[in-house]
This record gives sequence, structure tokens and C-alpha cells, in this order.
Amino acid sequence: MAHIFELAETLSPRNNYVDGVKSSSQSKFPATETFHGFNRPSRIEGDVHDLEVTGSIPGDIDGTFFRVQPDHRFPPLYESDIHFNGDGNVTAIRISGGRAHFKQRYVHTDRYEHETRHGKALFGKYRNPYTDNEAVNGVIRTAANTNIFFWRGMLLATKEDGPAYAMEPETLETIGRYDFEGQVLSPTMTAHPKFDPKTGEMICYGYEAGGDGNDGSRDIVVYTINQDGVKTEECWYKAPFCGIIHDCGISDNWVVLPMTPLKCDPDRLKNGENHWAWDPNEDQWYGLVPRRGGKPDDIRWFRSTNAFQGHTVSCYETPDGKVVFDLTIADGNVFFWWPSVDTPAGSVAKRNKLQNSTTRWVIDPQAPDNSWIDPVEERKEFSGEFSRIDDRFTTMKYNHYWQAVIDGSKPYDFAKCGSPAGGLFNTLGHFTWDNSETETFWAGPCATFQEPAFIPRAGSTEEGDGYLVALLNHLDELRNDVCIFDARKIAQGPVAVIHLPFKLRLGLHGNFVEQREITAWKEKREKELGPVKPAAEPLPWQRGVLHGDKKTNGGNGNH
Ligand SMILES: [Fe+2]
Repeated sequence: MAHIFELAETLSPRNNYVDGVKSSSQSKFPATETFHGFNRPSRIEGDVHDLEVTGSIPGDIDGTFFRVQPDHRFPPLYESDIHFNGDGNVTAIRISGGRAHFKQRYVHTDRYEHETRHGKALFGKYRNPYTDNEAVNGVIRTAANTNIFFWRGMLLATKEDGPAYAMEPETLETIGRYDFEGQVLSPTMTAHPKFDPKTGEMICYGYEAGGDGNDGSRDIVVYTINQDGVKTEECWYKAPFCGIIHDCGISDNWVVLPMTPLKCDPDRLKNGENHWAWDPNEDQWYGLVPRRGGKPDDIRWFRSTNAFQGHTVSCYETPDGKVVFDLTIADGNVFFWWPSVDTPAGSVAKRNKLQNSTTRWVIDPQAPDNSWIDPVEERKEFSGEFSRIDDRFTTMKYNHYWQAVIDGSKPYDFAKCGSPAGGLFNTLGHFTWDNSETETFWAGPCATFQEPAFIPRAGSTEEGDGYLVALLNHLDELRNDVCIFDARKIAQGPVAVIHLPFKLRLGLHGNFVEQREITAWKEKREKELGPVKPAAEPLPWQRGVLHGDKKTNGGNGNH
């Protein structure tokens, strides 16, 4: 007997996608891996009070674990759309007094507002304005779906292809696009700023920061915002080509900008093709710029063998002024959906075969431009990603780090779970640099972890003394848990498992924020600073479009 869905399709057929482009008003997502199984959009906004818990949530945890997931609100314009093109949907797990509560809200970006008004997707392919519906010409395209962090009383939802959006930390209400009160006007801003715990500064940057931020420019801008919210540094640099600079590192005096050999060609954009193409013949590059008083000529590039740079672990300086930079590196193109020019896209299976090593680099700021460098240490026992440290040690010599890792020695129930969406991160790892210690916790044959975050133990200043919080994906049940571990004893298993009654989507990044910090900033804003001020003016590139100087959006999807 035919399945009931198949009957509906037979009795009342719709041409949902024709030649890969949305061709009906039907609310139905493409039948592709991107929208299948665990990766089916969640689209949930709501609250659940007092979540069910197994074990005991430590009573000294008082704060919120924020994380964000790309979560397509409408079926995409293009059938081949990718996960990274989903609307930012922010989850808050509020933990206090041994209890946990859930809240989730979309980031109300300009993109979200326009698509809501029209009741359908209007933006086309990832970072390709030429594939958009002309109704959104000049509208900021970012989905703000990559990271969510706390800054001066607000949450900032960010994605590297556009500006940040501010949200209210307790309600997750969107305040609006945030330009740091008119001080940050680049079209793009990283999803991975760094916060210096010694100075209270935020160091952030934009790459492909010329024009509208989606036109293949080689411009890089690096900003410092001080703890009072005042921009103290802004310097513009040029990259050798337009490549992805997804994450960065900061030491006391330097910013490291790893540039991955995924390249943007403006002509390919105009032809409606992918924004990025992997270049297997290009080196990996590392830009080094001074934190203070930088000038455009100050950027120095270091090069190494072709590889895919993942996320930063951390960065600091040695007593003799060298810069130690730790990050994960894959030996091939992790983003298999952006293959090299004229080759077909790869697959999840292939991605899971890549080796993601944790590497340590030592960069000499006195070395000449274009110097060749190699890692001084490589840890290959597990393929790992989404590294986290005790953030209180950013810019300082540190010992502990945590990762989601792939333990290939453990069984995986393919029959029950299918392809592991997002990668087979079936294990959490805790590692130390001193003595190369390792401990792991395996989630079982039907589960994977999302990125962990570190929670410092109240009153303790010792590195790594605290908890680790991470989302667990039950790939068979299509449901999530939130696990809390003692950060230095993860092999013992979670001390508490908070059960969500439904499935979220694969998220990207998140951070734990202590309640006392949220409360202190709330009071400061009420008594002294006033409310967070969203951007009052369009970005410079938008003015050009509004005045008809430039038209980047195309005519696709105008059905
Ligand atoms: Fe990231």
C-alpha cells in the first residue's frame, strides 16, 4: 500500500522544484540530504519550562547556554540549497537552582523580515546576490546563523557574510542590526571575534569586506572595540586572493588570520554559481597583523601546504615574542558541497574520512613576508573539531582544551541512523598539551555531539575547573539532550542530562553566559547607559544600491 504522502502527491501533484528552482507555493522542503532526517528544519520558536533531567544539574551553575542553528524558515529558492543558508534560530538553555528551561527564537534579520512579509524565500544561493529575487535588491542578506555571544548587555548573532544582529538576552527578542553605534560599517563581520580577558576588548574583523561583502573583494578589516564600547582600532588590509578567513587568534600583541584555500571568483558569482571553490593547489595562508596601531602595509603572510583550516583552539605569545597558534586542520576539503571548479560535489561519507588533526604553529613576527611555516606539533589520535578552552585564558598560555571528535574504533548504527548529518562526532574529548593527556566519552552507536562550551566553576579561577555543556543528537530518535560534564572528568560521563522533548537542528556555535554578568549589564543599561541602540543608518554599500549606482541582485526566483 502506498504511503499516505505518496497518495497525496498522486491525487494532487505540485511541481515543487523545476530545474532546481522553487516553482510552486507549496510549503515543502527539497528531498535532499540537507533537509533529511536529523537535518530536517526544526522551525520551532517557543518555551519549555522545567525540562526533564536525568542525574543532577550542579547547583552552582547559574547562567544560560546560548547556541544558534541554521534553520530554514521557508523552503529554499534552490533545491540544492545548503545547511549554512538557513535562518539563524537561537536556543537558550537557562540553568539555575538545579533546573533547566528552554527558549528558542529566530533572529529577526532584514532577510527574515522581508521573507516573512512575502511568506516565502526570496534570497537565493549562499552568498550569491545574483540568485536573489529582485524584491530584495539592496537588502542585507545575512542569516546571522553562526555564533551567538554576549557583549555589553546584548547578545550578538553573527555570520561572516554580514553585520551582527543584537538580541535581548532574557527574551531573545531581536533588537536590530548592530553597528556598534555607527562605528563598525564594514559589510561583513566575523562570527568568531575574540575577547581579551585582560583588557575587556573585543577584537573582530571582516574578510571579503569591500563592496557589499559578497563580491569577491580581497579586503580585510580588523577592529578593536574597548570595554566601554568605543572603537579604538580599525585597519584595512589586502589578502592575496579572496579566501575564507573563518576564525582567528589573538595574543597580547598580534592577530592571526588563517585563510583557507576556498576561493571566490566574481565571474562565477555572476553566472549564478557557488560563492566558493576549493583550490587543491593553493597553500594555506596565515596573515599576521599587530593588535595596536596597525597600518595597511603591516600585514605579513605565512604559507604552508594545502589543507583546510578549521576552528582555533587558542593563541598566545612566548616570552621571546613568538606567537603560538593552535587550530584544527583537515587534510582535504571539509566543505564538500563547494568542490574545486568543474568537479562534482563530494559527500558526507568522504568528509568523514578526512583527518582533522590538532596542530600547533609557532609564528615569528620578525620573519619576512611569505615565509614558509610548518606545524611544530600535530595531534592525530582523533579527528576533532569545535575546539573550546576555558575562555578566561584567551591570550594566555593554557593547557586544557575540549573537542567534538570522531572515534572511528566505535560502532555506528548506520541502519538506524543513516548518514551522520554534520559529521560523525560520536565522542567528546578532553586534552591537555602538557604530557599530551587525553580522556574521551563516547555517546553510543546512535548519537553525535554538537560543539561544547566551558562553564567556569563559581568562585574558582583555576584553568579548566568547571563544567562542559554540549548538545547530544539522538540520530535514531530524532531528539536532543543537553549534557553537562565535569570538565576535567568527562570520561566518567555526564553528571546531568537535560532532555528536550523534540529535535533541534545541527547548530554551529554557542557560549555559556553567567547570570550575574547578564544581571550586572542589565542594571548598568537601566541606570547608566540606556538601551542598546540598533543601527540607525543603512550600510554604505546599501546607499549605493538605493541610489541605483549598483545592482547586484538578479532576477531568479521571481515566481
Ligand atoms: Fe565557526
